[in-house]
Amino acid sequence: MKKIMVSPSLLSADFLNIQKEVEMINQSDADWLHMDVMDGVFVPNISFGFPILSAVSKISKKPLDTHFMIVQPEKYIKEAKESGVYMMTIHQEACLHLNRTIHAIRNAGMKVGVALNPSTPVNTLEDVINDIDMVLLMSVNPGFSSQKFIENTIGKIARLGKLIADSGSKALIEVDGGVQSETAPRLVEAGVDVLVSGSYVFRSNNPIATIHALKNL
Ligand code: DX5
Ligand code: ZN
Repeated sequence: MKKIMVSPSLLSADFLNIQKEVEMINQSDADWLHMDVMDGVFVPNISFGFPILSAVSKISKKPLDTHFMIVQPEKYIKEAKESGVYMMTIHQEACLHLNRTIHAIRNAGMKVGVALNPSTPVNTLEDVINDIDMVLLMSVNPGFSSQKFIENTIGKIARLGKLIADSGSKALIEVDGGVQSETAPRLVEAGVDVLVSGSYVFRSNNPIATIHALKNL
């Protein structure tokens, strides 16, 4: 059986103790560390930017799985690379020239992910699916943690899985938003590869055990 990858989302961490939180993730079974960059334009919230990515990358033993919820992400590819980003995920809806931006990210030496909002169909990726390493399906409207999981995501995983299989792409399927004890097993059953989880991990009594449980679904 394939092992699920887990990418805890730092957005739900205790920001007064980021170093402690990153060290906790270092000790855990997490595969990646998910970091959400928001600009207050693409999404109605502002989180953190390059100084934080850069600081965290220096102490994180887990590759930075970085989710850019910003307009014109093509302007920040160099900064992302210099800040230690492993996977640069950008939103399809934020890119006028998605093909160009995907190749610019790859040429800068990072893995490339493309994220879709809950309302964006998977077939919008038909012409880039062979050029990317991951598709991030948003299972809440992006911008905030602790929101309710949107059920439509389950069917979307199946449609994306078919697109990936039909095209011979090696892209991973990541789901982000409302991942917890009830939704995670259903996502695994539907064919997810990477689970992002914010509030469920960081607000649990034992985040290390919660990450371990997610990985062993
Ligand atoms: C939301 C972010 C998520 C967020 C998920 O826009 O992209 O990564 O941290 O939080 P939970 O797991 O609490 O829904
Ligand atoms: Zn995210």
